[in-house]
Amino acid sequence: MTGTADGGRNGDGRARAAAAAVIGGRGRMPEPGARGEGEAPANVALVKYWGKRDEELKLPVTGSLSVSLGPLGTQTVVTRAEDGTTPDEVWLNGRRVAPEEGFARRLGAYLDLTRPGNGFRYRVETWNRVPTAAGLASSASGFAALARALDGLWGWGLGNEELSVLARLGSGSAARSLERGFVEWVRGERADGADSVGRKIGDAWEELRVGAVVADAGEKAVGSGEGMRRTVATSCGYAGWPERVAADLAAAREAIARRDLAALGEVAEGNALAMHGLMWEARPPLVYQTPETLSIMRRVWAARKTGIGVWLTMDAGPNVKLLFKAPDESRVRAAIGPMTVIRPGAIS
Ligand code: DP6
Repeated sequence: MTGTADGGRNGDGRARAAAAAVIGGRGRMPEPGARGEGEAPANVALVKYWGKRDEELKLPVTGSLSVSLGPLGTQTVVTRAEDGTTPDEVWLNGRRVAPEEGFARRLGAYLDLTRPGNGFRYRVETWNRVPTAAGLASSASGFAALARALDGLWGWGLGNEELSVLARLGSGSAARSLERGFVEWVRGERADGADSVGRKIGDAWEELRVGAVVADAGEKAVGSGEGMRRTVATSCGYAGWPERVAADLAAAREAIARRDLAALGEVAEGNALAMHGLMWEARPPLVYQTPETLSIMRRVWAARKTGIGVWLTMDAGPNVKLLFKAPDESRVRAAIGPMTVIRPGAIS
């Protein structure tokens, strides 16, 4: 194994082997100055990924399903840095990121997976069009855009499913960010993860809207990786999660095919609450909700009682995402309060 920038988090090198299996013998060593570009949308899970069967390869216990967030996402340019540059040069939204920052370390460890030798250095310039202040995550679009940019730099010529394998090695949910619209990340069966890939199952509906409501813009206390480990290890109810997800995936696919938001919203909200139930059950408990989160949740349910078609979902943080249709936007805003509204079907 090559040395990793984060002190060896890449474990015994199986992630590097998985990356090598995808890349095969393709591509040629880029000349200094050569560049690759990649773009990828953010996504929000409607049936959640919560729990890994393999930590290093980020292989999930279950499949999951998401919708991409239209114009929100990440754009990345990767170049081969001049020989002798050290360490990798990382830029985020126009700012040079110091090598000791978590962002650069995580990126460096990921770049190690395809680094041809210890002397090879990348220059990575990345722009996030994901309002993290609105409680939306950028790691999924970030690793998906980076995998695409690396593909361009090296000339591997990978397809989206192969790129989703590479992106997953950075962050699980990134496997769902190589495609736009509704995307299922199939669990797969293989130990090397080659069949654990993101697949598009439908275009986002033109009328679909996602609302992002902020309860607390601060950093989350427990990250997804640690949260998943704790839930899998200590929640008694986790044994029933795979069966629940299988049923939710089937119901979500059907609702998507029928363009039935009420059915999809019920599945998404129920699945998110079930995931959070398991988090509450973990020891020590993982409670991402703040009093403001609960207040937003209650406003959603009160709005629905008055006949407004709005459903909620939540990830590993205190903020709430809503699903509704365009004609209901003003009523949803009036009932729930300030939010960022996203059109998943839009690309710019
Ligand atoms: C709650 O993809 O961030 O958002 O694979 O450890 O990087 P790692 O986790 P990550 O987890 C996302 C968890 C979630 C649900 C989801 O997006 O499916």
